[in-house]
Amino acid sequence: MITRLNHAVLYVRDALVHQRFYADVLGFSTVAAESAGGYVFMRAPGSDNHHDIAFFTVGSDASDSTAGRGSVGLYHLGWEVATLAELDKMRGQLEANGVLVGASDHGGNLSIYARDPDGLEFEVMWLVPSSDWASAQERRIVEVVAERFIFTPSEIRVSVGTTLELRVRSDDTMHGFRIVGGNVNLTVPKRRQGEAVVIFEAHEAGKFRFECSRLCGAGHNFMQGEIIVEP
Ligand code: CUA
Repeated sequence: MITRLNHAVLYVRDALVHQRFYADVLGFSTVAAESAGGYVFMRAPGSDNHHDIAFFTVGSDASDSTAGRGSVGLYHLGWEVATLAELDKMRGQLEANGVLVGASDHGGNLSIYARDPDGLEFEVMWLVPSSDWASAQERRIVEVVAERFIFTPSEIRVSVGTTLELRVRSDDTMHGFRIVGGNVNLTVPKRRQGEAVVIFEAHEAGKFRFECSRLCGAGHNFMQGEIIVEP
């Protein structure tokens, strides 16, 4: 019987660009590579596998993947870290490199999402101990549409103790989503290019303002809303 997934192989524009990204940002090492840059095989820093991922060069004029937007295909690969502290550290690294696109809590795992140099999404996750899987607190998912110059809905009400998951997508250009006074500040990709996933833990009652954080036109400053946490 099959035990688990062993490795993934991706077609990319330039395997050497991916090699640098996976080494510098994620700490992978190279186990085999073709000197001309045709392929690179890499191992994750905490892995005892021969290789966890490989990249094959297809050339700089290759088009973006349309998987999930009109064609079937791979959504993402999920890389596991051993501790929550490491997930936090990874989040910082991805953010510093400008490739973080979202974060979410699926109850069974805590995840962050980022994009590689070709825009292919990957996940880094920490598996919550199985004894805690059932005890995840109440969760609410709200779809939010961003467009010039309004968020819909712009007022979101939740009760204290709720984990709010906002899935923010744009109906036109690129926007941002920042919770004022918080540490969330994500890019909302332009229409059909994906979404930003924001996790908000409603620990205390109050009003929490959010606003657009990417200059998107004349009404940018008016693009805001509020999360109201009710006792
Ligand atoms: Cu939307 Cu700035």
